[in-house]
Amino acid sequence: MQIAVIGSGYVGLVAAACFSELGHKVVCVDNNAERIAALNAGEVLIHEEFLPEVLGRNHGRRLTFSCDSAEAIRSATAIVIAVGTPQGADGQADLSYVESVAHEIAQRTNGYKLIVEKSTVPVYTNAWIQKLMLENGCAIEDFDVVSNPEFLREGTAITDFLYPDRIVVGADSDRARKFMREIYSPLLNGSYSRESGAVPGPDNAEDVEYLETSTQSAELIKHASNAFLAMKISFINMVASVSERVGADIEEVRRGIGSDKRIGQKFLRAGIGYGGSCFPKDVAAFQSVARACGSRWNLLEEVSRINQEQIARFLQKVRGAIGTLRGKRIAALGLAFKGGTDDIRESPAINVIQGLLAEGCKVTAFDPAAMEKAKEVLGKSVTYAQDAYAAAENADALVILTEWKEFAVLDLKRLRRLLAVPLVLDGRNLYSPETMSQAGLTYHSVGRYNGKNRSLDFAMQDGALQLRPAFGD
Ligand code: NAD
Ligand code: UGA
Repeated sequence: MQIAVIGSGYVGLVAAACFSELGHKVVCVDNNAERIAALNAGEVLIHEEFLPEVLGRNHGRRLTFSCDSAEAIRSATAIVIAVGTPQGADGQADLSYVESVAHEIAQRTNGYKLIVEKSTVPVYTNAWIQKLMLENGCAIEDFDVVSNPEFLREGTAITDFLYPDRIVVGADSDRARKFMREIYSPLLNGSYSRESGAVPGPDNAEDVEYLETSTQSAELIKHASNAFLAMKISFINMVASVSERVGADIEEVRRGIGSDKRIGQKFLRAGIGYGGSCFPKDVAAFQSVARACGSRWNLLEEVSRINQEQIARFLQKVRGAIGTLRGKRIAALGLAFKGGTDDIRESPAINVIQGLLAEGCKVTAFDPAAMEKAKEVLGKSVTYAQDAYAAAENADALVILTEWKEFAVLDLKRLRRLLAVPLVLDGRNLYSPETMSQAGLTYHSVGRYNGKNRSLDFAMQDGALQLRPAFGD
């Protein structure tokens, strides 16, 4: 099928590359001319496993890049909207980019078009696009609007796209449903995974679940999925705070909770909170939808509040371990909002570093992929090291802020020798306290008792167990 993908960001670029990998003829459009020039020059632009290979195989053959949206819309049967939907006023999604693309489609359309809405949008956005098309004189038989939310994660975006758990298609006509099945057929019938040279699937890949729903349901599935995952993270972070205060170990607690198959182990890693371009804004946008429905739910507000407080809690931990922060040299491992990506949007790691700088610390940072992007935000306020060990040299403490795999396998003896003070504060629980202690490092992590940080004791009073401040062990 001839597909135009509008937007060449994380989602647009990955979707365009993967649709071409599935055999479609794709033009990926962006109104950022510099971005398109770079893509045309063979640059990959984002750090994503397998993206260089997929672009290399398809660019110039089934995949092209262009700034000419008018031509792309005219020549395509399916038009995929993949532009940004940032947080707007009062937490609502800012739909101005979607609005401008929808207007352009309505004006340029010539013959049948399948409009595939992939950006994350609030419920009724698809209905609004349909209304706009009709108001612009497009006949109902000449277009369909489909909600096809995207569930990929940054860092594993290509694998997530080509081996998804589920594909959700919200459509109101048989014609649209038929076209969508055609677009995804190599994933639905397994033919893609059998191709020699296909991107390898994950070890535990299962058959994809293909869900056909109404457009409103599809829109809600996306917002509710992100809100639920964010809720799981805030929940475990709250439990981590309790664990730490009463001398429990959040890693034991997490294993215990997650072993219940109804709950599962995933998205129960305690840390410095969730970040990224999606969870914070999608939780806020879903809250706005709930408010508009007249529901007085505080659940999602609490999810955001707990998340924001994780940063303050971690900074407090650093203060508690180091004492006065002014003038202290801190080695910071991680700048990206999560491991495996160079994306620093809403990164908790950047927030922690900004907090440390505000208190007068000197920060030397290292990230395997996100240093260039971080420089645009942090500039010269931070020194950038070439690796984790160079960052650690002569530091008064090392903080781990992003869950990069390489940060979990550091040479601890070498680290011990390099640090001026053998102190590690781990915001991602990448190590066991025993391992760190054997390496001679003083170790603080999230939600784990370290022999000192228990702050609550107990007493039985009138048949009820009272928790009260503890005065050390
Ligand atoms: P992004 O900001 O990285 O990319 C958006 C791109 O759209 C930019 O390159 C911008 O120049 C381009 N653009 C804006 N207006 C345009 C126009 N009128 N014509 C052509 N191009 C235009 O955003 P993203 O991270 O790719 O996210 C896109 C959407 O997908 C959002 O709604 C987001 O919530 C959703 N989403 C993102 C992820 C993710 O992991 N990043 C995952 C699932 C869903
Ligand atoms: C998330 C969702 O996982 C995707 O399904 C969704 O498509 C996407 O948002 C989106 O809509 O944009 P992503 O933001 O790439 O994907 O990253 P995640 O792996 O979900 O991590 C988000 C944040 O939560 C990161 O800061 C990560 O460090 C943190 N996290 C994740 C935890 O603190 N604990 C966990 O157990 C898991």
